[in-house]
Amino acid sequence: MKDFLCINDFSTEQLKDLFTESSELKKLYKSGGKDSSLAGKTLAMLFEKPSLRTRISFQVAMADLGGSAIYVKPEDIGGIGKRESIKDMARVLSRYVSGIMARTFEHSTVVELAKFAEVPVINALTDWLHPCQAMADVLTVYEHCGRVEGVKIAFVGDGNNVARSLSFACAKLGMKMVIASPAGYQLDAESIRKANQISAESIRQTSDPAQAVLDSDIIYTDTWVSMGQEDEKQKRLKDFEAFQVNSKLLSLARPDVKIMHCLPAYRGYEITDEVAESSNSIMFDQAENRLHFQRALLKKLMS
Ligand code: CP
Ligand code: NVA
Repeated sequence: MKDFLCINDFSTEQLKDLFTESSELKKLYKSGGKDSSLAGKTLAMLFEKPSLRTRISFQVAMADLGGSAIYVKPEDIGGIGKRESIKDMARVLSRYVSGIMARTFEHSTVVELAKFAEVPVINALTDWLHPCQAMADVLTVYEHCGRVEGVKIAFVGDGNNVARSLSFACAKLGMKMVIASPAGYQLDAESIRKANQISAESIRQTSDPAQAVLDSDIIYTDTWVSMGQEDEKQKRLKDFEAFQVNSKLLSLARPDVKIMHCLPAYRGYEITDEVAESSNSIMFDQAENRLHFQRALLKKLMS
């Protein structure tokens, strides 16, 4: 395992090993322990888009493991692939740091970085995928449901990067996912086919949120307007109107259903304040688990 770009690049066993390591490190740090596996190592963090969770949790994870992180805004380096080619950047960075983490628009940017870097490259979100989020999500599901196998997730909203990575994670780990999206915003057919090839009938699509949440263990949502789609905002707000996770939708689900959101949440749009604040919501545990998963990932890739 050199890079972490897409969940599909890994076997179920490798993913489970990462969860075991995440839980062990979580326990260690919660009890005041310390693991210095990355002492003296540096992670370069390249961000073409804003971030709260990803940036801070990776930086804290590096410090926890005895290493350090450098945050790089594209304007500081003249843009990724603009002032110089991505392949030159990847090779230069490999001479300075022990790992590169990147959040980019184009998915091909992280693929190209990984191809030419001699050090591990981590996908910290692209327009196509958000694998670190999906792994933290599955860890959270495990902690709240006591199992992963057979857990049913209703994803209500956009068939986007978060939905795509989660669908691959579900297929790899024996979970079932129903994605309820309006016409024109469904997860692409090729991704569904890939997921269902990993595990038959693990992913299903519908245009009816009410039908999706019936009998689900988890209701998951994400923004209707992802970073880079700001120009489509008005149209999207209208098209997604019937896909809000609100108390009416919640009333159709099991009383103990858990509400998940990768955050940032746009309250009043994809989720109401009432649902976000309800006792069903586990979104801050989910956000916390970004740190616990990424500590394990960094240790695995960089030590
Ligand atoms: N969920 C997530 O990736 O959040 P940030 O965009 O704040 O990193
Ligand atoms: N789908 C969102 C996720 C943010 C963490 C986006 O890409 O903006």
